[in-house]
Amino acid sequence: MSIELVKTGIPGLDKLLNGRVPKTSNLLLTGAPGTGKTLMALQFAYNGVKQFDENGVFITTEESLDNLREHSKQIGMDLGKYEKSGKLFLFEMDLATLKGGMASIKGLLDLIKKKKIKRFSLDSLIMFEYLYQSYRNDDVEFRRQILLFLNKIRAQGVTSMVISERKTVDFDKPHFTEMDFMFDGFVVISRIRKGSYFERVLTVAKMRGVDHSLDIHPIKIGKGGVTILTDQTPFSLADKEDDEVGLG
Ligand SMILES: Nc1ncnc2c1ncn2[C@@H]1O[C@H](COP(=O)(O)OP(=O)(O)O)[C@@H](O)[C@H]1O
Ligand SMILES: [Mg+2]
Repeated sequence: MSIELVKTGIPGLDKLLNGRVPKTSNLLLTGAPGTGKTLMALQFAYNGVKQFDENGVFITTEESLDNLREHSKQIGMDLGKYEKSGKLFLFEMDLATLKGGMASIKGLLDLIKKKKIKRFSLDSLIMFEYLYQSYRNDDVEFRRQILLFLNKIRAQGVTSMVISERKTVDFDKPHFTEMDFMFDGFVVISRIRKGSYFERVLTVAKMRGVDHSLDIHPIKIGKGGVTILTDQTPFSLADKEDDEVGLG
């Protein structure tokens, strides 16, 4: 039986991923603040509905939904349109109410099943820190609980994109956490300085089952959200071509 594949719907990213990713994969998207992670997670859910008619959930623990709706409208994403048609579901998680483990998100799990959700975007991993506070001192069990959750939604045929915030990303001196190894895919965004200017860049560090690009590409934020410029090399790295600039 051949593996079913899906597109992320993020312009340029699918090209780096050799076209598609295995359905029900989970991708971790990581980077420093202001690199475009939230926009990409929104695009994953929004374009899923718009381009592929796949129902999606987007969860934020970071920003108010009103702000997000407003900001995304400015760049041409009309989230409200698909919320109204019952295909896109946005949730602002109240972290204070999230301490009872899986039981406190039963409503969410029911919705994923009932509404035939196929894409799950989580901004950010922080949600689990609140959800599973009782495992605060047990890293292994904490990660196991996250895996249980991810596997639960995987079993429903859901492909997911999860964001983790990172204070700094240095492509020359990569630092991985245990969490990074848990996911099927690992995409890193950073800002690289060239003189008095910062350029946003992205690389796919890992994607299970996919012969993906290992290059670093510039990204731009504008109409429609984030676009990865797959035919360009970051100009901030242009004169470093022969150095060991890489991640891992
Ligand atoms: N309409 C826009 N045009 C260009 N850049 C934008 C626009 N809206 C947001 N941005 C840029 O996107 C960045 C925020 O992206 P976001 O996805 O919230 O980042 P992160 O989640 O990584 O912190 C801002 O720093 C801003 O520079
Ligand atoms: Mg964000």
